[in-house]
Order: sequence, then C-alpha cells, then structure tokens
Amino acid sequence: MKESFFMAEKKKQVTWGGRFKEGPAALMQDFSESVSFDKRLAPFDILGSQAHAAMLKKVGILTEKEYLAIRDGLDAILQEVFEGEFEWKKELEDVHMNIEQVLTKRVPAAAKLHTARSRNDQVATDIRLFLKFACEELYEIIRSLMRALMQLAEKNQSTYIPGYTHLQRAQPVSVAHHLLAYVEMFSRDYVRFEELYDHANYSPLGSGAIAGTTLPIDREYSAKVLHFTDRSGKAQVTQNSMDAVSDRDLLIEFTNHCALTGIHLSRLAEDMILWNSAEFKFIRLPDAFTTGSSLMPQKKNPDSFELIRGKSARLIGNAATLMTMVKGLPLTYNRDLQEDKPPVFDSFDQTVACLKVAAGALEGASFDTDACARAVADPLLLATDLADYLVKQKVPFREAHHLVGRLVGLSEEKKLPLNRLSDADVLAVDKRFGKQWRKVFNLDQAMKNRENIGMPGPRIVKERIDYWKKKLVRKG
Ligand code: ARG
Repeated sequence: MKESFFMAEKKKQVTWGGRFKEGPAALMQDFSESVSFDKRLAPFDILGSQAHAAMLKKVGILTEKEYLAIRDGLDAILQEVFEGEFEWKKELEDVHMNIEQVLTKRVPAAAKLHTARSRNDQVATDIRLFLKFACEELYEIIRSLMRALMQLAEKNQSTYIPGYTHLQRAQPVSVAHHLLAYVEMFSRDYVRFEELYDHANYSPLGSGAIAGTTLPIDREYSAKVLHFTDRSGKAQVTQNSMDAVSDRDLLIEFTNHCALTGIHLSRLAEDMILWNSAEFKFIRLPDAFTTGSSLMPQKKNPDSFELIRGKSARLIGNAATLMTMVKGLPLTYNRDLQEDKPPVFDSFDQTVACLKVAAGALEGASFDTDACARAVADPLLLATDLADYLVKQKVPFREAHHLVGRLVGLSEEKKLPLNRLSDADVLAVDKRFGKQWRKVFNLDQAMKNRENIGMPGPRIVKERIDYWKKKLVRKG
C-alpha cells in the first residue's frame, strides 16, 4: 500500500496526458490538488466558461447548437454544485478541470470549450469575479456594524466618559463621540473595498496561458457578458496578458483590506474588553455574546471581542502569506500561485464573521451611566480647559500649562481634588486665575465648549449622528 503511494499511476492524466508516459504519483496528486478548496470558485468558473463559450460562438468557433449544449450543460452542473450532488475528484486536480471533464463526458461539444483559453486566464477571471462578489457582500455587513455603533452612539450622546491617551485619563468625551470614531474607521474600510471592486473590474479572459491566442477572439464581448464594464456599460479588459495571468495584487489588496478592517475591529474589541472589566465597568455586554467559566461561577467573559482581537492576527497573517508568496516569482504564472486561495477565502470568511459578531454584541450592549459619571467626574480631565481659560485671560499657553501644572502638584500635595483647592491657594500661584477659575469644572459646559468641526461637543456629535443616519439607511 505504502509503496504504491509513491508509484506512478498507470492511468495517464486526462487533460495533458498526451506527452506523458505515466500518470502522477498518488502522493503528487494529493500534494497538487486544489479542488478541495477551489471548488468554492465553481459558480464563478461556470459563469466564466459560459461567457467564453458565448464569445466562441460569436466569433464562429462554436455553432449555436454547440454553444447552447455547453451553456445548458454548465447550468446543470451549477445546479448539482449548489445541491451538493456534484462529485469532485481530486485526481482532476482543480475546480476548472473537474467541471470541464464532467461537462465533456455529457456534452461532446465541450471538447472545444478550452479553445483559446488556459487555466491561467481562467483562474484569473474566477478570482476577479470572486473579489467583486466578496466586496459586495462586505458592503452590507460593514454597514450593519456601522449601524450598530451608530445606534449605541445615539443613545449615549450625553453619557460622558474619560477619553484616554497612553491609557491615562486625558479629556472628557461622550460615549457617542468615541463610538463614532469607529464609524469613521469602518467607513474608510468600506471605501477601500469599493476601490478594490473597481480595480478588479477588468476582464483577464483571453490572456491565455501567457501570450493570448492566435485565434480571432473578442475579449470585449466576453468581458461584457461577465459585467466587466464601466458605468456606461463599456467593456473593461486587462491590457497585458503577462500581467493578467501572473499578478495577484488584487488578492494582496483584498487580504490587506481585510487585515486593516480586522485591526479596526481589534481596537474596538480591546476598548469593549476594557470597558467591560470591573475596573472600568462602563459597558454591559449581552449574555448572548459572552461566555461563562467552567470553574468560576461568577465569570462572564467577553469572548466575542477576545476572539475578534485574536482573529485579526490571522487576517494579518493571510495578507503576509500572499505578499511573501508573490514577491520572488518570475513572470508569469507559477504553480505557487495556487496557494493564493486558502488565505483569501479565510480572510473573507473571518472578516464577515468578525463584523457580524461585533454588530451582534454591540446591539445588545448598554452603558452603565453611573460608572461612566463617576469616572468622568475626575476634575483632572479638565486641567487643559483651565489652561485654555488662562489663555483667554491673555496668558501665553506655555505659561498657562506650567501654572496649571503647579496647581495639579498642589492638589496632590494637599490630597484635594483640583477643583477643591481654595481660592487663596490658587491665586497665590497666579493672580490671573481670577475669581471664575472654578467654573471651568462644569462638565456640561466644558462639553459645550467643544463645538468645532470634529470635536466631541454635543451639537457637533448630534450633527454627525444625523449625517451617518442618512448615509446608513437600509436599502430596499
Ligand atoms: N489550480 C490552478 C491555480 O489555482 C489553476 C491554474 C493552473 N495552471 C497551470 N498551468 N498549472 O493556480
């Protein structure tokens, strides 16, 4: 048994057997097959083949009858694939050959389907169709997460919390402003996938193995059938056959965009994990997206967000895999490129899952407004406002910063909150603090003082919420 595994198969490979004396070793077959993962491309592969066949008919290589037989045969296979009835064979290596072989057995005319085509331009076409599909899927899922963030923001416009730099209390912000920061980030991720859609929207079909074909094909025709078109409906096709079959930059872009979305998700997750801790206690996560401990009865762990943080590492890894794979390859197609698919599919699946889980967890989350109020009552959060107050009394900022710093030192020495120092102590540091200095510590007023574009003032935040609400209206 073991020996035969290394031995060549008697049966020659059906697709290219012509110039070989023996078939591949079983070990080699197992090693080189990709159908176990690229069968996921079947719907795109079938669409690509139908468009190619339509083009072959248009240029007179296939008769109408042959074309229709091929088209219907491919439809039948697609149906079987969807129903899980199609029998995938690893000895037929990949999704392309599996489909072609079965089709040819059923429809003799399919022996002409691979005319003027190679698996190299075929797989490049499949990938672009997959990417366009994946981007469109991601649009709505990103929007759902933005909506969940937005709804939570809307409810918490006047829930104030400390904003942090260096994970040290810095200045007060509203929960809404903090959550809207992520809405901005995810909106840029959205745009990145839109741009990628445009990059992918060029048909490589007709590039052949490397140098096109001597046959009179019509690349723009098949491009149109596959909707590789601009807004006016004009066909868009790739302009260099060698580039078209050898680059995987679109997949690198895709996995990097997924990684970046993952990085944003991971930072959101980290905030939620911190806020959910007893030390912060700002947020309560829903039971449905937390888990218990097998040992400690009191535990309610934020596993949803921990897994999102963990999975983002995987997304970065997938992008790194692709970049490393491509960087040293001579033009054009090399078999290494078959390894592009598992990381791409994984990035897509995990990004979709992370976005959905984040949205689900946020939809059920609520803020502990008492805990938030306790944290934001720290008067040190308004130390900068006090310096700004001095600036309004014409004190140069550097000096104002120094004077307030002295008050902070004094409050530490006297073990008093900054806003509880006596007027006498404060005026002894500098007369320009005047009689009104303590008014700076009115939090509501302090927030209202931040009403410039992009700031956490309540009016500005409300405007931004209205802006996103309009943009995120559910379509259809
Ligand atoms: N399964 C292959 C891949 O994904 C298809 C292209 C194979 N081309 C070739 N000449 N071996 O890369």
